[in-house]
Amino acid sequence: MDTSKEGAHISIPLEEVHQSEMIKIRTATPTDLNSIQLIEQYSFPSPYSTDLTRYLMETASDLFLVAISDETSISKEWESDIVGFSIAQMYEIEELDNRKIDWLFKFASMNGMEPGVKIGHVIDIAVHPQFRRQGIGSMLLKELMRRLIKKGCTQIRLEVRVSNIAAQKMYEKFGFQSVEIVPGFYENKENAMVLVFTVEEPL
Ligand SMILES: CC(C)(COP(=O)(O)OP(=O)(O)OC[C@H]1O[C@@H](n2cnc3c(N)ncnc32)[C@H](O)[C@@H]1OP(=O)(O)O)[C@@H](O)C(=O)NCCC(=O)NCCS
Repeated sequence: MDTSKEGAHISIPLEEVHQSEMIKIRTATPTDLNSIQLIEQYSFPSPYSTDLTRYLMETASDLFLVAISDETSISKEWESDIVGFSIAQMYEIEELDNRKIDWLFKFASMNGMEPGVKIGHVIDIAVHPQFRRQGIGSMLLKELMRRLIKKGCTQIRLEVRVSNIAAQKMYEKFGFQSVEIVPGFYENKENAMVLVFTVEEPL
């Protein structure tokens, strides 16, 4: 692969405050689990189990975020104030060896990674269907990217289904670029698109 094409070289303003009047982003806590799990189920054909989500909360720590809506904006059908979440992990790649990475969340492809650098891996992001297209997914992604960059990541990677145009468009807006298609990556054998964001300047 021609690594010179990897990732984007744009500057996005990753300022500290990622809040609107109605939406706040914070680190998830165990009491958020039920709402997160419901949003997961509304959002994916093969949702992560509650046990897996709990495991992620323990391991991802401050890279597991929730979006909280001002309670006045909550609809009658959705009583929780949690309207979305995002999760990432960070790896320091000593050798290019997928076996050293949490086996549950291996990268679809390690092409283009340099040994010795810190890599952020966005492993889940979802917004309750009733609250989409209001900028909440963008806020969650932006704060996750800011935290990963602050921890020293020089590259942020993720996989997305080739059919998931909505998510692809969001990632493109942030400067993620497609570097590879991995055939049959998902449980239904759907292909994954590997997207990469290359960090220009550390925070
Ligand atoms: C992907 C997802 C998190 C986006 O959340 P969101 O809060 O709706 O996203 P935003 O409102 O911040 O939208 C950001 C941009 O994404 C793109 N986008 C989002 N939804 C879109 C859609 N349905 N169709 C086309 N583009 C879309 C747009 O470019 C949008 O910017 P715009 O509103 O200025 O045009 C949400 O659709 C979701 O939860 N999907 C199901 C779970 C999922 O697929 N997660 C990604 C796994 S890789």
